[in-house]
Amino acid sequence: MFDRTMLIERFEDMYAAPPTHVIRVPGRVNLIGEHIDYCGLSVLPMAIDRAVWLALRPNHLEKIRIATTVAGFTSAEFSTLTPIVTGQPGDWVNYVRAAAETLLTGNFSVRRTSPPGFDAIVDADLPLAMGLSSSSALVVATALALVVTAGRDDLERICENNPSFRLELADKLARGERYVGTAGGGMDQAACLMGCSECAIRVDFDPLAVTPIPVPPDWSFIVAHSGDKAEKSGAAQQVYNQRTEEARRAAQKAWSIFGEPNRFQTAGDQGLRSYKGLLGYNDILEKSKKFLDSTSYRRFRHILTEAHRVSRAEEAMRAGKLAQFGKLLTASHRSLRDDYEVSTHQLDTMVETALDSGASGARLTGAGLGGSIVAICPANNIENVLAGLSDETPFIVRPSEGATVSLL
Ligand code: GLA
Repeated sequence: MFDRTMLIERFEDMYAAPPTHVIRVPGRVNLIGEHIDYCGLSVLPMAIDRAVWLALRPNHLEKIRIATTVAGFTSAEFSTLTPIVTGQPGDWVNYVRAAAETLLTGNFSVRRTSPPGFDAIVDADLPLAMGLSSSSALVVATALALVVTAGRDDLERICENNPSFRLELADKLARGERYVGTAGGGMDQAACLMGCSECAIRVDFDPLAVTPIPVPPDWSFIVAHSGDKAEKSGAAQQVYNQRTEEARRAAQKAWSIFGEPNRFQTAGDQGLRSYKGLLGYNDILEKSKKFLDSTSYRRFRHILTEAHRVSRAEEAMRAGKLAQFGKLLTASHRSLRDDYEVSTHQLDTMVETALDSGASGARLTGAGLGGSIVAICPANNIENVLAGLSDETPFIVRPSEGATVSLL
């Protein structure tokens, strides 16, 4: 259980005044639909009961001053006058800057009733850089802090749980987070803002939409992390961006094979997001095999088969068919391992250990290249799976509501 009082005390020690608000933004575990959100294909994550927490107080200084209780992360301050200057690659504050740049520029400027600026302290009961969306949670928390700082109207829209405002914010932040250099999709920001207690969510794109899907009460999800960091602004970034490029090239080729090259547009995200159209072709994998080189074909196969697994997994969840859901998770892992090549030896071993200990299915979750696995099991098998993964500090995750802002 997160100690909110301690966070508030740390804030008071640091800034010699109490915070005005505490923001909680959950992490997420992606249940299925990996590396396909940036192709515009639906995914099935779940916001979890572990979060990034941010206590703040407006400072009227046109400055964000931010500290954290997390060991090894130094505090920082920067001006909110745009454009916001980026820090060194890998600097955690770049996620804070990404949110500021997004909200203070362009057509989503928060309404300023006072100069935007706040003092903040951040903590988390979510393992960081472990594929559970800690970085997007930080981006969302900063964005909400700016909304709070800007004035009442926007804050009320957040507190009233206004879905269209939250969706708009998630959409903008998905693009805005690319400021750190990773060409991410929009799953994480949507899960952080639109999570729903007792439910997983199906996230659709173009336009962004979220549908809650109730998690059967006797299903349990366990997360275990490999200890290898999967930092989106660090080592994992290059491979991640390479995969998005490979996905884009495969789509371009496929549209030309099917004689409709105009449906692939090179501008912006348009080409990459054209996969939805490709799903409509029968025997597409068979037909494209001889035109794509072996690597492109495997990347393409992962994307298309994963999209099908997502819809079958949604059906299985709605029907309470745990064994079927589990099989789809394991098949997703194998596809990420063999076709998309984003697993690691450690993640593969953990998946096999979870399955041998009685999990009904298991897979890497998040971008891979380190990070965590998620396993699913019936409630009566939890202890065995936890024991099997005991070297990897496993923990049970439960569905959670999306971000909340509390006025103190
Ligand atoms: C990261 C990105 C997401 C998504 C996953 C992989 O978490 O932020 O947009 O692409 O990787 O599924």
